[in-house]
Amino acid sequence: MTTSAPTRHRHVSAKASRFTESVIREMTREALRHGAVNLSQGFPDFPAPEDLKRAAAEAIRDDVNQYAITWGAKDFRDSIAEKTRRYLNIDLDPETEITVTCGSTEGMIAAMMACVDPGEEVVIFEPFYENYAPDAILSGAVPRYVPLRAPDWTFDPEELRAAFNAKTKAVIVCNPNNPTGKVFTREELEFIAALCREFDALCFTDEIYEHILYPRADREVNHISVAQLEGMRERTVVVNSMSKTYSVTGWRVGYCFAPPHITSALRKVHDFLTVGAAAPLQRAGAYAMRLPPEYYEQLSRDYLRRRDKLLPVLEEAGFRVFRPDGAYYIMTGIERFGFRDDVAFTQHLIREVGVACVPGSSFYSRAELGAQQVRFCFCKKDETLDAAAERLLRLRTR
Ligand SMILES: Cc1ncc(COP(=O)(O)O)c(C=O)c1O
Repeated sequence: MTTSAPTRHRHVSAKASRFTESVIREMTREALRHGAVNLSQGFPDFPAPEDLKRAAAEAIRDDVNQYAITWGAKDFRDSIAEKTRRYLNIDLDPETEITVTCGSTEGMIAAMMACVDPGEEVVIFEPFYENYAPDAILSGAVPRYVPLRAPDWTFDPEELRAAFNAKTKAVIVCNPNNPTGKVFTREELEFIAALCREFDALCFTDEIYEHILYPRADREVNHISVAQLEGMRERTVVVNSMSKTYSVTGWRVGYCFAPPHITSALRKVHDFLTVGAAAPLQRAGAYAMRLPPEYYEQLSRDYLRRRDKLLPVLEEAGFRVFRPDGAYYIMTGIERFGFRDDVAFTQHLIREVGVACVPGSSFYSRAELGAQQVRFCFCKKDETLDAAAERLLRLRTR
């Protein structure tokens, strides 16, 4: 069937026309197409914990196969409340303050659609996890970008203050941060919180890497949730997920917690977007949330080892490397390779060298800001990192 161009144009909404498909997910498809070692999209290539898989399989066998309560199975919400009390010292009412979503991806967009009206402004630190820009478009928010500057990815307090005004509805914080690996200090978070209180703004905080932290010699690296800060519980939506902490990105189980008035709006949006997350996997989620502290300590140790395996390779291969304090990505500068931009470099790396990464421009509002950066992930088996290393070192001698 042929459809004329003007008609085809009318078939697609203005909203959907304003953003592209995810560059990160596209890089995974490119890696598969060219047989490249995939250090682009952040998903582990090693198995999920055995006992967690068993809990999921048992749930299906036990016939937990129908819709869960739309905002989450009770046992799972109870276990989230227990874990949040244990790790963040925050008391949550699972009946009114927790919503289980299809990954944190759904959590963030549902929170924004529940809270933001078209034309209201949302402050986004840049570089940012690429979903936040389409999230802003879909929810009608006007993004106000504030730079995080290398090498420490700190923000200028004056610049942040200048981004807040009477139209500011919220700020998005991603901590530990993707793509930079930055872990915000208490002082930085207090500054953000003070602006939220002053301008009566909300905070949407994406904390899916909360358990992936690396020690530093010069200062402590701790996860502090914005919701823990004074006066912030009542204006914060914490977005979290099983994806990264339990190495199950394909399960699509996440959750948000927020005060009751926000949670009830968020639950309505969530209900009509997805009805709910996979019921048997929520049963397994309740098991995961009750894992002992050693599980999380081991998780960080394992990622530290992987970080310290990839980092010197990238340095030796010629990248300018920004050492992450958290999450499982390394942001790099590619100035020394002399490529026109990050996209040309990434294509070269995938096709000629055989390693996939993510072009830096996908983390910025304007492509030129990321034109000399690319991001690698290291949530991979030793063999995968070794194979990548062998190829990356060839890049140096090219
Ligand atoms: C900062 C951040 N938020 C959200 C997501 C998506 O997570 P989920 O699988 O929970 O939807 C990712 C995935 O890479 C991420 O890095």
